[in-house]
Amino acid sequence: IAPANFSRTVIDWQQTHGRNDLPWQREANPYHVLVSELMLQQTQVKTVIPYFSRWLARFPDVETLAAASEDDVMQLWQGLGYYRRARNLQAAARTVVNNHNGEIPTTATELREIPGIGPYTVGAIRAFAYDAPAAIVDGNVKRLFARLFALPFLVNKSSHDRYFWALAEEYTPTQENRRFAQGLLDLGATICKPKQPLCAACPLQSVCHSLALDLVDDYPKRETK
Ligand code: ADE
Repeated sequence: IAPANFSRTVIDWQQTHGRNDLPWQREANPYHVLVSELMLQQTQVKTVIPYFSRWLARFPDVETLAAASEDDVMQLWQGLGYYRRARNLQAAARTVVNNHNGEIPTTATELREIPGIGPYTVGAIRAFAYDAPAAIVDGNVKRLFARLFALPFLVNKSSHDRYFWALAEEYTPTQENRRFAQGLLDLGATICKPKQPLCAACPLQSVCHSLALDLVDDYPKRETK
């Protein structure tokens, strides 16, 4: 499928079938996007929602978070696990306050230098907060591309990430990328699920290579050790 047709299909599907009422979608606030994306890295949406609301009530902006005590930060994260994310989030807030006048940067170069912000989060902030044409690649996106194109790349082998990033970049639209990026995540979470994907409801079913081969269950490929 050509990139323009792919992005149009994902964008149209997102508008009617995607998730458009999540708390971090209410405003395109880069701080809200940063907090939610770090929380969502290892935790499900429905678990994150109450934590996100409490976090914003206690730390409404980067300045408040930068000035908070570590005890308060850890207390608000209590129960989410992977506590390094909480420390990273505060370190990121302090860097933004100290080096960027409290404004979360827009460029990939500047974002990459902030502690705790990896390649996925760089793309997520640029796409979701700024609607910039930045690619995002996470487990959902890799699985979707792996199935759509019946790719041989291994989703759990980090040296193969470059192939997924190259594809994601090729397919990222220059317009409406906020909705497109959300559509990729929504498709991965609700249709192109890890187990029992709902191919009959997929807007890409007519162009999906693994479905045409009746090999959806064989993708994505993983390294077995
Ligand atoms: N997982 C990571 N980012 C997300 C988002 N913006 N919406 C839903 N799930 C997500």
